[in-house]
Amino acid sequence: MALSAALKTVRDDIRAILTNDPAAHNLAEVLLYPGLHAIIGHRLAHALWRQGVPFVPRLISQLVRFLTGIEIHPGARIGQGFFIDHGMGVVIGETTEIGDWVTLYQGVTLGGTGKQRGKRHPTLEDHAIIGVGASVLGAITIGKGARVGGGAVVVKDVPPYTTAVGVPARIVVTRDPATGVTRRVERLPDPEGEMLRNLHDKLLELEERLQQLEDVTNHDHLEHHLSLSSSLWSILDETSDGDESYTLGAGI
Ligand SMILES: CC(C)(COP(=O)(O)OP(=O)(O)OC[C@H]1O[C@@H](n2cnc3c(N)ncnc32)[C@H](O)[C@@H]1OP(=O)(O)O)[C@@H](O)C(=O)NCCC(=O)NCCS
Repeated sequence: MALSAALKTVRDDIRAILTNDPAAHNLAEVLLYPGLHAIIGHRLAHALWRQGVPFVPRLISQLVRFLTGIEIHPGARIGQGFFIDHGMGVVIGETTEIGDWVTLYQGVTLGGTGKQRGKRHPTLEDHAIIGVGASVLGAITIGKGARVGGGAVVVKDVPPYTTAVGVPARIVVTRDPATGVTRRVERLPDPEGEMLRNLHDKLLELEERLQQLEDVTNHDHLEHHLSLSSSLWSILDETSDGDESYTLGAGI
């Protein structure tokens, strides 16, 4: 009975890899995945840890860490169909609780903040996805079907069916689980883009002012010329009295 339950658990872990990783083509390849080795080692270590066996669970955990680069404390509770892609650098703390069909990418930390005792690591509900290098810190809950973007630092709860990105992480997308329709809820601050937009606006304003100045200068210039030439003509008119050679258009 226990053996068939254990085999079903391993089958689900393999199924999670085949379902989630487009690069996994067949069972033989999947058996090479360090994430699979780590979760099988952990399930053994956790069973011994629950029975109060001293030392051995930690030994298994450290051996698995040595072999895969994935460190899972034997006390962490992990559900069915758990998938760690690539794996290297993943750390899962003692009081972490992980639901079913959860995916972690490499470099994920499910850790404590260093300020809490007792339950001090995150809870990940079913179908959560935690992106590469994300740190999820403290006794917080990542809701069902929630996604955490690569590189995020999450220190507050993430509601179900939302996406959290950035440092510190913010909710940027919500998703209707029934239809899959997504909605943007917040634009992340973009200080460089904002600065470029301001500079562009300023440039347009300066161009406009320059154009106005040129228009005014050209107008004054023209008027100046017109008044100059009309005074010149009137002088010429005066001096040409009686002298045909100085009449308008005659020999100038
Ligand atoms: C977050 C993630 C799961 C996408 O979730 P999603 O709900 O489909 O979100 P979207 O792709 O619609 O992105 C929403 C916004 O967040 C931004 N965003 C997405 N991922 C981000 C990240 N990791 N960091 C910062 N911003 C991110 C997007 O640019 C978008 O903003 P925009 O609309 O202003 O362009 C995905 O981007 C991610 O990080 N996946 C991790 C995958 C991974 O670790 N792969 C490793 C393979 S080796």
